[in-house]
Amino acid sequence: MWLPCGCTSKYVASSFARRILASHLHVSGRSRCNVAAFMPEAAGFEGVSGRAALRELSVSNSESFWAAVARHRLSWSIPFHTVQDCDLSRGKIKWFEGGKLNVSVNCLDRHVHTCPERVALIWERDERGSEMKYTYRELLEMTCRVGNLLRRHGVKRGDCVTIYMPTCPLAVASMLACARIGAAHNVVFAGFSADALAERIRDAQSSTVITVNQGVRGGKVIELKKTVDTAVESCPTVKQVFVAMRTDNPVTMTARDIAMEEVREQKEMLKEDVVCEPAVMNSEDVLFLLYTSGSTGKPKGLVHTQAGYLLYAALTHRYVFSYHDGDVFGCVADIGWITGHSYVVYGPLANGATTVLFESTPIYPDPGRYWDMVERLKINQFYGAPTAIRLLLKYGDQWVNKYDRSTLKTLGSVGEPINTEAWEWYHRVVGDGRCPVVDTWWQTETGGICIAPRPSDPDAEIVPGMAMRPFFGIKPVLIDTEVSGELLTSNNTSGALCMAQPWPGMARTIHNNHQRFIETYFQPYPGYFFTGDGAYRSEEGYYQITGRLDDVINVSGHRIGTAEIEDVVCPAVAESAVIGYTHSIKGQGVYAFVVLKKGIDVKEADLSRQLNGMVSEKIAKYASPDFIQFAQRLPKTRSGKIMRRVLRKVVESDLEGLGDLSTLDDPSHKCIKYLQSCFCF
Ligand code: PRX
Repeated sequence: MWLPCGCTSKYVASSFARRILASHLHVSGRSRCNVAAFMPEAAGFEGVSGRAALRELSVSNSESFWAAVARHRLSWSIPFHTVQDCDLSRGKIKWFEGGKLNVSVNCLDRHVHTCPERVALIWERDERGSEMKYTYRELLEMTCRVGNLLRRHGVKRGDCVTIYMPTCPLAVASMLACARIGAAHNVVFAGFSADALAERIRDAQSSTVITVNQGVRGGKVIELKKTVDTAVESCPTVKQVFVAMRTDNPVTMTARDIAMEEVREQKEMLKEDVVCEPAVMNSEDVLFLLYTSGSTGKPKGLVHTQAGYLLYAALTHRYVFSYHDGDVFGCVADIGWITGHSYVVYGPLANGATTVLFESTPIYPDPGRYWDMVERLKINQFYGAPTAIRLLLKYGDQWVNKYDRSTLKTLGSVGEPINTEAWEWYHRVVGDGRCPVVDTWWQTETGGICIAPRPSDPDAEIVPGMAMRPFFGIKPVLIDTEVSGELLTSNNTSGALCMAQPWPGMARTIHNNHQRFIETYFQPYPGYFFTGDGAYRSEEGYYQITGRLDDVINVSGHRIGTAEIEDVVCPAVAESAVIGYTHSIKGQGVYAFVVLKKGIDVKEADLSRQLNGMVSEKIAKYASPDFIQFAQRLPKTRSGKIMRRVLRKVVESDLEGLGDLSTLDDPSHKCIKYLQSCFCF
């Protein structure tokens, strides 16, 4: 029998924490602020003199901090006995060992006990104005039905279920159902091709896949079941495919397929009980795999585990966005990416929030879609990607101003550097100049946000385009990439962004390849977690991400971040991508691909001269592009990231060596062919 029980005050780690704190904390004449009012999880730390001190403590005494927070935030069936057992030099990361809990109980049951009729999900379907709401009680019932269905069809604790679905309530229920019965999930973004899906199914060794008959996005029907059919042909492990109905169109079913919620015939899901006994999981059991691209090799299945991941997603969701009870949280990411996992599903649900599932695109049926949704659903926190902001900026302010955005309190940005122009437009136009813009830096590997402008102080200064401050328990360091991995201790400096301390949300391994995990993240700078990104630390100690280190270019001995060049604001330019190319004299030269805003009518030669002048003026002469190529659009991943790797190959005329294009948003590769045809050399 499952007994949700919060950790009791008897729990050893907590009293231990208080003892340590009492001896460590010097409470001087500084005025004390009530940290417990700001962060109830820190109620035991009465001696801490304010939020800054609490942040310091979360790093200097991270075990006590995380023990207290884990006790307070999560419902445990058995308390943990060891806060952490980590050794970064060996890539060993374990948190809250001895503890047992169930993630779905934490996300659903405990809210159903207190507020069953609170809306958990608002499904903003592709068809505008047809949103559907699901209460916590309804979501728990749906989750239990799916959990029972999976169990009845032989899915066991420790199995891995692949989910290939659009962002919809049943996808969320499927993720939570896996968590409920102790199976891991492997959500594959529903825009991936059959080959990419098959590769992920094979690597995860899934015997069960969950999908829908068809997806609908931007008014177009997407044949998801057909893609699964093709994929599983090369996946001998797959024994069964559950098929839900997103549209009314029937699809061909094979002997392997099970109609999941088909009302007409089998009613599989409706047969199931709405009570499903939750598996009692160890803190370090696998919660999910999520595949992401590395700079080399095939996609890697990063592994996240139960307690640490959930705790970190919940805490960051609460504090980075200043989420409060009753708020409607609108993260527009697809559930197929880590942002969807942490800030559409796990973080918000762990906090009992109302979370929005956005199924559509920013410009369907028109460029007012996001802001219409904000007005209709009364969204309080909006979290999106700079690429969408840049796109919408091109269409003009009128699409924003049409709608009431007075409910908005915080605007978030994620996934790539947000250039100054986009940041300012987001702040000034979308947020009416009154909503803080939080540029959040993190990765699939980190599980949740690590650097963000206001993680501990809701009134802190925000500098446009800067992620700024580390979250509680996060200790970023910059390491010199050239001088034998030396730690850079001063400010106003740039280096490889590493983490000097483990935190509960970090990935534990790469599925089936722990060696690659160690080599990628822990060997480059022994003793540190290497993020793969470069960062700048300002005079004030704020962090700004300069981009992947492989995007840093070296021109005549000067290092320059491509993002820095792209950030030079030109009113005619909507978007640009800068890459380095081999230059016979300078080592590397600068090649810029530029997309103009709609309706701009200027001579390319004039604009090139203007852009060069601006870059020289804003950065330095050496940074000004050797070549500027005007393009209609840039090759992007389906999550909206510019594929600079592809641009480099175009510039090198190496179309043979383009590598894995499974994430490209243009399956016919027209955009690449076009760029190649007008290539400047
Ligand atoms: O280069 C950084 C960039 O996105 C990478 C992580 O990508 P992914 O694992 O797909 O996760 C994306 C969503 C968290 C990072 O290594 N990145 C992410 N956020 C930012 C960013 N670059 C600059 N600023 C950010 N706020």
